[in-house]
Amino acid sequence: MTTFDQDTAAYWMPFTPNRAFKKNPRVMVAADGMYYETAEGQKILDGCAGLWCVNAGHGNRKINEAIKAQVDQMTYSPAFQAGHPLAFEFAERLADLFPGDLNHAFFTNSGSESVDTALKICRAYQKARGKADKIKLIGRERGYHGVNFGGLSVGGIMPNRQAYGPLLSEVDHLPHTHDLAKNAFSKGLPEHGADKADRLLDLIALHGAHTIAAVIVEPMAGSAGVLVPPQGYLEKLRKICADHDILLIFDEVITAFGRLGDSCAAAHFGVQPDLITTAKGLTNGAVPMGAVMVSDKVHDALMTGPENMVELFHGYTYSGHPLACAAGIATLDVYRQENLFGRAHDLAPYWQKALHSLARHDGVIDVRNIGLVGAIELQPRDGQPGARAFEAYLKAFEAGLLIRTTADIIALSPPLIISEQEIDVIVNTLDDILGNL
Ligand SMILES: Cc1ncc(COP(=O)(O)O)c(C=O)c1O
Repeated sequence: MTTFDQDTAAYWMPFTPNRAFKKNPRVMVAADGMYYETAEGQKILDGCAGLWCVNAGHGNRKINEAIKAQVDQMTYSPAFQAGHPLAFEFAERLADLFPGDLNHAFFTNSGSESVDTALKICRAYQKARGKADKIKLIGRERGYHGVNFGGLSVGGIMPNRQAYGPLLSEVDHLPHTHDLAKNAFSKGLPEHGADKADRLLDLIALHGAHTIAAVIVEPMAGSAGVLVPPQGYLEKLRKICADHDILLIFDEVITAFGRLGDSCAAAHFGVQPDLITTAKGLTNGAVPMGAVMVSDKVHDALMTGPENMVELFHGYTYSGHPLACAAGIATLDVYRQENLFGRAHDLAPYWQKALHSLARHDGVIDVRNIGLVGAIELQPRDGQPGARAFEAYLKAFEAGLLIRTTADIIALSPPLIISEQEIDVIVNTLDDILGNL
């Protein structure tokens, strides 16, 4: 057994209350399959696939071997004006995986970069078509699209935005779809709320479709606390966008790669966006990477001008990084060989039943689920928003379970390799904790 006694001062931790954390650090030193091991030697069951990314479980041997082999072959080649075989191969594999004509992959290093890339591509597309006024970007309340300026601007989580203004100006937001009064304890898609998509018609009436480049939504909002789309909502949004010549971006940084039991939410819901942003499960979190999947229509409109000219003045030094591509290709192999999307689909009913058993606790005001995602929403304590869920987080960690909390919502999204017994461990652990909160 090891213990953790390092100086913690220099590391400024992201999205973490640094001072509180450093008084009582939680430090992982190893991970395998469904479990982490802490510096104190405690096993921690991973109830959230890291940060929604380790869909194939930790330390997958095939992914690790692919990365190691690429380390010996070549660790870097320039991303601009040169290529390497794995980037082309990976892009082709992704084009095959994503539905419809999302046949082009633009590689980034994170979900945030994927979002800003997608927003820029949409504006460039409209300009390339001669629609220079079509610049507005429409996001949604409670949307999370990462932390860069574009994603923050279309995002709808106030604490993430408030210190950084002014953000992009040509932006507006749809209302979120969460409606506890009508939809609490929904299993799968909530019944009420498709009409929230009609608010896009109000924004079109207000601004004019001729000013709107794109709408971006998470098909299932993850980071704001698992907000499952109401029945018919995404279909409506798709139709309104198509009717008004507005591009639709699905931010699938969480929902792509099996989380809902299919390759992505677009395939799961049968709703085809014009662009999809991804990251996280793209490489099983093993090497940082993101990708924007772009439709033929959008891509082809930008492949104009003299052939010796750059078509899109955008890209990152590490776009299509060889180690990330090696990890990504191996990850897709593992998803297919281990049928992990099918596994998530098959486990979803068991997951749903287990999670909803927690509804019996006082203080639980909602349980909701889709695929291998779930949320338990707690009644906030008077004057202490978030305190109840954070206490649950600490108690769960103590009991050997990693969960995620947002305000007073517990979010769960285990690796897709989870067994029914491990689902029982998650639910039994939470059952004990919720009974004593
Ligand atoms: C929907 C969505 N978009 C974008 C991001 C940002 O991804 P990253 O943290 O890799 O920048 C996230 C991260 O959780 C996300 O859930």
